[in-house]
Amino acid sequence: MDSLAGKVIIITGASEGIGACLAAALRKRGANLCLTARNVAASDSDVIVPGDVTLDSVRSAIVAKTVERWGKIDILINNAGRGSYYAASNTPLDEARAVFDLNFFAPLALSQLALPFLRQTRGTLVNIASIAGEVSLPWLPVYSASKFALAGITAAQRTEFRRDGVHVMGVFPGYVNTDFQAHATGQPPPARVVQGKKFAVSAEECTEAIVHGMTHRKRTVVTPRSGWLLVWANRCFPSFVESQLERALYG
Ligand SMILES: NC(=O)c1ccc[n+]([C@@H]2O[C@H](COP(=O)([O-])OP(=O)(O)OC[C@H]3O[C@@H](n4cnc5c(N)ncnc54)[C@H](OP(=O)(O)O)[C@@H]3O)[C@@H](O)[C@H]2O)c1
Repeated sequence: MDSLAGKVIIITGASEGIGACLAAALRKRGANLCLTARNVAASDSDVIVPGDVTLDSVRSAIVAKTVERWGKIDILINNAGRGSYYAASNTPLDEARAVFDLNFFAPLALSQLALPFLRQTRGTLVNIASIAGEVSLPWLPVYSASKFALAGITAAQRTEFRRDGVHVMGVFPGYVNTDFQAHATGQPPPARVVQGKKFAVSAEECTEAIVHGMTHRKRTVVTPRSGWLLVWANRCFPSFVESQLERALYG
């Protein structure tokens, strides 16, 4: 098991939700952090890079300031992301592109910038996808597509980087109790989906699973683990799962 004490860790989307919870947990374990988001609070102990991670200049600053302060990068956690509840039939294309910019292109670009440093430390790349990157959710169609894309590049990165000793982990959370829904654009999700929030895990539970995955160099984390049931049901019985999703969509 890898200790996280003294590791230099970049977390995107660290101002709230899962990212803020990860920051608190990793700080407690003695990690040195670079935290970034548009509204991230100042800190004496951490490197803080405020800004929009879809911008080249912000991504370059994240890597440059981390290396300037700590001299290395051990772990990059691509966590920033947002939902979009527009239907597939009427998602504005600008919205679809913006979702992909944040959920797919930003993590891809940041991992390209961090890779030379991750090679030096034989470090870890963590991409926070979603269960929606395994099972396409019809009330979050473009979001699902962006997370499928992220899951796809994660698998390819794992194969490409393995020879350099860089560990690549994909994370597939189900429902996590954060303000994700409130931050998503588009129409409100269907009532059954909103009710499903009572089955959500906490950001702390999700964080624990991610930290366990990092210290044990897991390839994939599905949290809660019951999410595997949905993943396998979808692989083995796709028509059945689609009919259940249709019922959830239309009530
Ligand atoms: N909550 C869930 O049920 C769930 C389930 C599966 C997967 N996920 C994934 O988990 C990750 C974290 O989600 P969460 O639930 O913690 O969501 P959240 O509470 O809405 O937090 C999202 C974080 O991303 C940051 N962010 C958003 N747009 C950004 C931008 N353009 N540039 C930089 N930072 C940006 C936000 O900070 P600022 O607003 O300050 O920029 C915030 O810190 C996301 O990738 C999400 O897709 C969540």
